Amino acid sequence: MMTDWDKAAWRNKPRVQMPDYTDPAALAAVEQQLGKYPPLVFAGEAMRLRSELAKAARGEAFLLQGGDCAESFAEFSGDNIRDTFKVMLQMAMVLTYGAKVPVVKVGRMAGQFAKPRSAPTETVDGVELPSYRGDIINDLAFTPEARIPDPTRMLKAYTQAAATLNLLRAFSTGGLADVHQVHQWTLGFTQGDEAEKYRDMASRLSDTLDFMRAAGITADKLHSLQTVDFYTSHEGLLLEYEEALTRVDATTGKTVAGSGHMTRVDATTGKTVAGSGHMIWIGDRTRQPDGAHVEFCRGVVNPIGLKCGPTTTAEDLKVLMGKLNPDNDPGRLTLIARFGAGKVADHLPRLIETVQSEGANVVWSCDPMHGNTVKSASGYKTRPFDSVLREVQEFFAVHKAQGSIPGGVHFEMTGQDVTECTGGMRAVTDEDLSDRYHTACDPRLNASQSLELAFLVAEELSALRKTRAAQGEAG
Ligand code: PEP
Ligand code: CO
Repeated sequence: MMTDWDKAAWRNKPRVQMPDYTDPAALAAVEQQLGKYPPLVFAGEAMRLRSELAKAARGEAFLLQGGDCAESFAEFSGDNIRDTFKVMLQMAMVLTYGAKVPVVKVGRMAGQFAKPRSAPTETVDGVELPSYRGDIINDLAFTPEARIPDPTRMLKAYTQAAATLNLLRAFSTGGLADVHQVHQWTLGFTQGDEAEKYRDMASRLSDTLDFMRAAGITADKLHSLQTVDFYTSHEGLLLEYEEALTRVDATTGKTVAGSGHMTRVDATTGKTVAGSGHMIWIGDRTRQPDGAHVEFCRGVVNPIGLKCGPTTTAEDLKVLMGKLNPDNDPGRLTLIARFGAGKVADHLPRLIETVQSEGANVVWSCDPMHGNTVKSASGYKTRPFDSVLREVQEFFAVHKAQGSIPGGVHFEMTGQDVTECTGGMRAVTDEDLSDRYHTACDPRLNASQSLELAFLVAEELSALRKTRAAQGEAG
């Protein structure tokens, strides 16, 4: 239990990327209301995710984090949630096959509403208005009224997050997650003409499942073939929302995993959990060591993600690791590298060296999306599939050279057949982008691009495993 921390202490720190609400009374009323609502997750779940991530820090598991750049009120539907969940399970299965370790599944879902922006205003046809900051803050429509921050949007976001999480929990145990079912969908994908090069791995997966079935390892006997643990995450950006959903969990005598062994939580003090989602992360624009976002995150028990971009210095990283993970607990802190293809070797080595010289336990994850955004000739914000893939490959290569562990990947993706990122085996072109460009913010990989990328990451994981095995034999 952190004694020198209070969930409201962030209010005394410099804040960036947060809205200036114009009506303090309306804001206070919303905060009070949210403060009475039930939390969406509880501390035991956050601690379980920490123990799963501790395995990823050691190379005994691999993190798959993915979902929308920004969830939106307009795109909210059961079908959308189902389709993203399905693709993530397919990806997880392919990655498991490549890595031969469990894949920890974390959605950018059920709370991923608030967006940091590169500029406070945007100008269209000579008209300048405040930037859109995500549906939890203001509205995408380009009118002065729509762009005024409205605190009541937090209540709507909470309701949508609760309904999303409810459906995810139902899917996780209700039959949709059955491995045979998930693999059937993947076979559908690999049957396409363009997918020939992925057919071999898919058919080896089929063989494995057939063998298991023949050996009597079936879903009715082994519950874990039918259910999954699926966690939620979002950027902890809108701190009024985060604080209002933060709770002290005083479950008597609750046991949680800490530092890889079982620790008894003090029944009288409990732990403080950000009840808004299982994992929260700090964005590349809000990671000031003395800023409000770091202050808030350091005191909650949730696993914390920290985006590391080209401007992250070794010195900042050292200070941030000390603040966010003072006990050096593996699984507490995930460093999410996002440099851009062609730049990973310029930046990642100094940060890995810092982690190594500090003896810090972290999960290294790769976000190959945010450093690879470009404007297409047709004017759309896009990301070329090849750049995304190249950044992941560079991430693996640098870790190999530095002798550290690539522990996960972080994607902006959807289960829908959108045309937002170019390339992939179905070759979305610049001209195609206008067909189905639905994102409220950054371009997402569509279902086919996401699964294709999983096959390609699985190849990296498989190569890594073989290198390690050979080193083991040599040693
Ligand atoms: C994001 O993950 O949506 C995001 C804005 O990322 P970053 O902070 O790395 O730019
Ligand atoms: Co984004």
